[in-house]
Order: sequence, then C-alpha cells, then structure tokens
Amino acid sequence: MKTRYFITGGAGFIGSHLTESLLRHGHEVYILDDESTGSRRNLHHLESSPSLHFNAGSIMENTMLEKLAGTCHVVVHLAAAVGVKYVLDHPLQSIMTNVVGTEHVLRACHKYEKPLFLASTSEVYGLQTKAPLREDDFCVLGATSVSRWSYACSKALDEFMALAFHHQGAFPVTIGRFFNTVGPRQSPAYGMVLPRLVDQALTHQPMTVFGDGSQTRTFTHVADAVDAIQRLLESPSAAGEVYNIGGTQEVSILSLAEMVRHATHSRSPIQLVPYDQDYDRNFQDMPRRVPDVSKLNNATGFEPKYDLMQIIDDVVADRRRQL
Ligand SMILES: NC(=O)c1ccc[n+]([C@@H]2O[C@H](COP(=O)([O-])OP(=O)(O)OC[C@H]3O[C@@H](n4cnc5c(N)ncnc54)[C@H](O)[C@@H]3O)[C@@H](O)[C@H]2O)c1
Repeated sequence: MKTRYFITGGAGFIGSHLTESLLRHGHEVYILDDESTGSRRNLHHLESSPSLHFNAGSIMENTMLEKLAGTCHVVVHLAAAVGVKYVLDHPLQSIMTNVVGTEHVLRACHKYEKPLFLASTSEVYGLQTKAPLREDDFCVLGATSVSRWSYACSKALDEFMALAFHHQGAFPVTIGRFFNTVGPRQSPAYGMVLPRLVDQALTHQPMTVFGDGSQTRTFTHVADAVDAIQRLLESPSAAGEVYNIGGTQEVSILSLAEMVRHATHSRSPIQLVPYDQDYDRNFQDMPRRVPDVSKLNNATGFEPKYDLMQIIDDVVADRRRQL
C-alpha cells in the first residue's frame, strides 16, 4: 500500500535523501520546511513526482502542521536547529525550534494518533567519555553558560517528551540518535567538519583542524542513515526505544583531514587552530565519540554499507559539483 509520510525538515540534508528513498519505494511524501538551513533546491530533482508535496512553513505554527499530521499515516520529525555553529549563532531561536516546535509536532501526533520517528543526536551524550556509547549510558552535559550544551539539552528534552507521550499510550514513538551523518547535499555552512575540510582542500585553502586533531569520531553515509530510519519505521517492536544510528570506523579529525587531502590530491596545508579562533573561549569538545550500534543491528539487521573512504569520495564528488 502507498504510505503517506509527513516529514518535517524534509528539504534538509537527511530529509531530502529520505524523501528520495520513500518516493523510489512508491510512497507519498508531504514536507513542511521553513528553509532556514535546508532548501527546496535539495528536492529539485524530485519535483516532477506527483507524490511529492512541499509546503513552505514552520513547525512553530500549528495550522499547517496539524493539517499534514492529520493527512498522513506516519510522521518523521527532522526539523531542528542543527549544527554547532548555527546553534551558537542563534541560541534562543534554536532552543525554541527544538523545544516548542517539537512540542507542536508531538501534540499533532497525539491529536491524530500518528506514529512518529524523532531525530535526536549523539550530542545528548555530552561529555560522556565512555566508548562505545550505549543508548542507556549517562548523558553528561556541560554548564548552562556554555551555549553548545543548549542543543544537547533541547534534544534530550525532546526525547523525554516523546517517550512520555509513548508511555502514556498516546502514539508510538521511535527515537534515532544520529552520529555525524554526512554525504551529498550537506552544507558546510553550519560547522559540519567533513564538507568544510573537503571545500578547503578543493579550493587549496588551509585545512583547519581544531585543537590538536586527536579527537575521534565516526561518520555515517546519509544513505545508511536513511536505511536505518526506514528499517526502524518498519519494526513495530522498535517503538518506545532509543537507537544509536552511526558508523563504526573511528577516525581522528587529523587523520580525516589527511584522508581528504589525499582523496582530493590537494596541496592544502593542514592547520591546527585553537577552538576559540572560531568558537567562544568556553567552547568544550569531546575527545572521543563512538556509538555502540548493536541495539539497532539486533532490532533491524542494519549494517552500514559505506566505509569511510567511500563516504569521503562521495562528499568530494558532491562538493566538486557544488563548487
Ligand atoms: N546531520 C547530522 O550529522 C545530524 C547529527 C545528529 C542529529 N541530526 C538531526 O537530524 C535532523 C536533520 O538534520 P540535517 O543534518 O538534515 O540538518 P538540516 O539543517 O539539513 O535539516 C533540518 C531541516 O529543518 C528545517 N527547519 C529548521 N527549523 C524549522 C522550522 N522551525 N520549521 C520547519 N522546518 C525547519 C531546515 O530548513 C532544514 O531543512 C535534525 O533533527 C538534527 O538534529 C543530524
């Protein structure tokens, strides 16, 4: 049967890839997006499809939100203030979007009893040093005077609210915590490390690595992230649970920069810069952030298909086209 999906933030990076995949599988997609960090251009190649319905508007307004939630079978909530740099530049608006906007989405799902996938983030683990991180590990957030923690805190509150609705039996909720998701169409403008390094390498600018570059991360190709979302949506037993969605290949940011330089045949120097050159003096970063994805694997059979080199090659090809 043709399922009608309502995607908030569907013109964004992950949203546009999810839309593409759902349309390819014969479903219908309704989008609500205010184009604050996303863009309708991300959907340009899909616009001839009669199954795509784009609506310009915000989750801060209830009318359209409720209408779309009422029309569709499943809601995927991706709209959020995203990216460390964006959140630091727009602190109040980011908190409002992530808390008040999400409350609106939850209330609309409640009203029409629609199942929901909620996008959360690895940021909720905060300064937790354990590796790999399991979904039930403690969230260790920094001081409220350090603005970056407002993103983690607002997303953690989203999780609490969503799980509370679920446990009251209001509607089924599944939560995915994304770890650095990357791939074609991701904007380098909001502090995302891989597209920024690739742009610097392709334009022969110094490739800036914060701190001493020894901090490690894993990266997930957006196609794998979309596969994980769809698998979770198709697993009724996943409802009421939180899942890490991330890659397993741990890499230091300095090594990542070297891999990018190699993949682009760039002559750019790699420049170590202190965090306070781009962020404020109180900026805090995590030395290591690696997910345990066994819960997702056990529930859905999910395995990432893209390794780090393929991910980098895809981002390089995309940024070459964009530049
Ligand atoms: N990309 C990642 O690495 C990553 C990591 C962790 C979590 N996430 C989460 O995944 C989701 C999607 O992120 P993304 O990487 O695709 O970012 P994105 O910025 O490309 O997508 C977010 C979309 O939401 C839209 N939006 C923002 N505020 C809105 C509002 N008030 N009303 C309607 N639309 C609004 C934006 O215009 C954009 O299209 C977010 O919830 C984000 O927190 C992403």
